Order: sequence, then C-alpha cells, then structure tokens
Amino acid sequence: TDQRTLVLLKPDTVRRGLVGEVLGRFEAKGLSIVAMQQRTIDGELADQHYAEHVERDFYPPLRTFVTSGPLVALVLAGEEAIEVVRALNGATDGRKAAPGTIRGDLSVSNRENLVHGSDSPESAEREIGIWFPGL
Ligand code: CMP
Repeated sequence: TDQRTLVLLKPDTVRRGLVGEVLGRFEAKGLSIVAMQQRTIDGELADQHYAEHVERDFYPPLRTFVTSGPLVALVLAGEEAIEVVRALNGATDGRKAAPGTIRGDLSVSNRENLVHGSDSPESAEREIGIWFPGL
C-alpha cells in the first residue's frame, strides 16, 4: 500500500551536519519527498507533536532538545512508507539499534536519536496535519 509518513530530522541531525547522510538513506531506499521544511519549533508545537508523551518523565528534556535549534520536517511517501522508515531508523535507543540503521550507525543516545517517523497510519495523518496543514 502506498503511504505517507511524517519524518523529523531532529536538531542533532542538523547540528551534526548529517542531513545529507540521513536524507540520502531515505532517498536511496526509494521513498519520495512530498514536502520538506527546515524550521525551529516552540514548546507548544512540540507538545502537540508529542501529545502522547507529554506526561512522561522523559518529556521535559525531550521538549528542550527538540526546540533547541533547527530541525527538518518531511513528508515521505512510498510503498509501506511508515514501516520502511521505522526499519531504516532502527530502535529508539541508538545504543541498542542495529548496525545498518540510521540510529544504529549514527547515534548513541536514547533522546538524541536523530530521526522521528510516524508509528501508524493514524499518527501519520495526525502529524502531517500538525506540520504541514493543508497537505
Ligand atoms: P521519537 O521516535 O521521536 O518518539 C519519542 C521520542 O522520545 C523518541 O523518539 C526519543 O527521542 C525520546 N525518547 C523516548 N524514550 C526515551 C527515554 N526513555 N529517554 C529519553 N528520551 C526518550
């Protein structure tokens, strides 16, 4: 099934100069870029995006991190794009993510894990509405 998914290249990706490296992996896999924007978000947008995590212990430092500098928001599309992106991203914790994945190759953090990908078709549509209203 052709799907759309919301992807974030988080501030650590931009800060570390890894936008090209990470974007290249998605492109090389065959996903298409439907929309892409670099922006610095405020805490309110972070709270909307991470609505299901705002009460968690790990959220306050995550909120600080995702608002700490520019990030790149993308809509990617392709066959089973949601699962394909999550497979490329790897496990949440970069220390545990498999080598060959973006996090496994490039991150050693559970928070600064470079990328976000929507986890279901419902969250993809919700998140696309937050980041790219009208798309
Ligand atoms: P993401 O896929 O964007 O979804 C929620 C984010 O919260 C996750 O990536 C990490 O950046 C962060 N996160 C999840 N669990 C933890 C944790 N235990 N400690 C710190 N950050 C976390």
